[in-house]
Amino acid sequence: MVSGATPFDKQEYWSQRFDREASFEWLMPWTVLGPHLLALDLLPRDPSARILNLGCGNSDLPLDLYRAGYQHVTSVDFVGSVVNRMRERCERAIGWPSSPSSPSARECPLQFLEMDCLDMSALPQGSFQLCVDKSTSDAISCGDDDECTKLKTLCEQVARVVVQPGGLWCVISYSRFRQYEWTEGLGQGLWRTERIEEVKVEQTRQQQQRIDNAGTQPEAGHTVHAPDVFMYLYINRRL
Ligand SMILES: C[S@@+](CC[C@H](N)C(=O)[O-])C[C@H]1O[C@@H](n2cnc3c(N)ncnc32)[C@H](O)[C@@H]1O
Repeated sequence: MVSGATPFDKQEYWSQRFDREASFEWLMPWTVLGPHLLALDLLPRDPSARILNLGCGNSDLPLDLYRAGYQHVTSVDFVGSVVNRMRERCERAIGWPSSPSSPSARECPLQFLEMDCLDMSALPQGSFQLCVDKSTSDAISCGDDDECTKLKTLCEQVARVVVQPGGLWCVISYSRFRQYEWTEGLGQGLWRTERIEEVKVEQTRQQQQRIDNAGTQPEAGHTVHAPDVFMYLYINRRL
């Protein structure tokens, strides 16, 4: 994501975008993220663990987590239309409910809620073992002030809903300079950033093509070398 003047922090921007775009995966797909989470032992061993997906957008992440075996994945986003579309899309994809005439007493493993991540007071305290945030901190930070008031508020909000101590907040960001540990004021003493992992993301053919087209067309027999792209995985542990 290149911030520029694009209002990534604004609900209106996302709402209009989702009216035009059915599906988009920010920063990296599960085929890249999943193996990193697994290798770093960040995925709960218990399939009944509760997972919170912050700012779900129209990405496949809820389905990916379900296919990885998780039975309680709650996705939130502040755009109601995308939340409703995602609920329909994911329920269809997993065949829920198995019989429409006899709805299961059990709740759907994939829950979708319209909610501002900066006010998650409707979620029960200490209820999630893992919070996954794929570029939602990035979006929120785009509209932040010099004191990082919004990011600190997010730190407070996520801290309330994950288990304490030990709950995990895994952030996937394009930025190497996000801060989740604060020593005074808002957000202080809530998180320890245990590790920041660099994740190499292969360029897709489409991205490669865009680079090719930005310059002159390569002559036959010439290879275009696209630079490696790196994202960052922040492993934040609730104190
Ligand atoms: C960069 S997109 C990432 C979407 C998705 N996580 C992915 O990986 O493709 C940021 C998402 O966060 C949502 N968002 C931004 N600010 C938010 C806020 N304050 N509360 C809830 N959702 C927010 C946007 O609607 C958008 O879906």
